[in-house]
Amino acid sequence: MFFIPEHYRGTVDHILITHGTIQDRIEKLAYDIARDYKDLTIHLMCVLKGGSAFFQDLCNAIRKFHDYSRCTQIPFTFDFIRVKSYEGTQSSGEVTISGVSMEKLKGKHILFVEDLIDTGLTMKKVFEKITAEASPATIRVASLLEKRTERALAIGFKGDYVGFSIPDKFIIGYNMDFNEAYRDMMHIGVINEEGIQKYK
Ligand code: IMP
Ligand code: MG
Repeated sequence: MFFIPEHYRGTVDHILITHGTIQDRIEKLAYDIARDYKDLTIHLMCVLKGGSAFFQDLCNAIRKFHDYSRCTQIPFTFDFIRVKSYEGTQSSGEVTISGVSMEKLKGKHILFVEDLIDTGLTMKKVFEKITAEASPATIRVASLLEKRTERALAIGFKGDYVGFSIPDKFIIGYNMDFNEAYRDMMHIGVINEEGIQKYK
């Protein structure tokens, strides 16, 4: 029922969330965030590369609410960071953060912008590291997706703002990838076996 570009035909099992629904959900997330932070400046930390589409759309939505709010502070500042922890479809559990200097985060209201919380291990480690090394005022995460898995339950990390709770399938599209493929597909979908073989 939805458009899948020719180059991905036959490699997508199904579309899970359409681009339009993503936008509608982001508008509400932005509304919740703008209301919660009121007159504070949020320091957004966009987790590259997967989180960048969500980041752009979230910024635009927060800006829209802020511009009509009569609040006088800057709504947000931001950094782009890289967190390395994933190869193929398995989470390795090892985490390194690059792209930000810890001194600059002191006293800031940090909001991570992440594409997907799977096991929650990446964000758990990032939170521990930032809390220990940067002493921010507050630290939260906005994640577009959160998987319902046993592993996630065991690790126990929960997103503060979550767009959609999804089943434990490998997700692609809207900037999320399988070995760099599918980032350009604008809907969120589930890869099939043909896709895994083609891009592995
Ligand atoms: P976690 O540490 O298990 O929570 O994994 C976090 C990161 O792994 C996410 O930020 C994603 O970038 C990546 N990831 C996890 N599951 C998927 C998936 O289904 N598709 C694409 N990337 C994924
Ligand atoms: Mg990510």
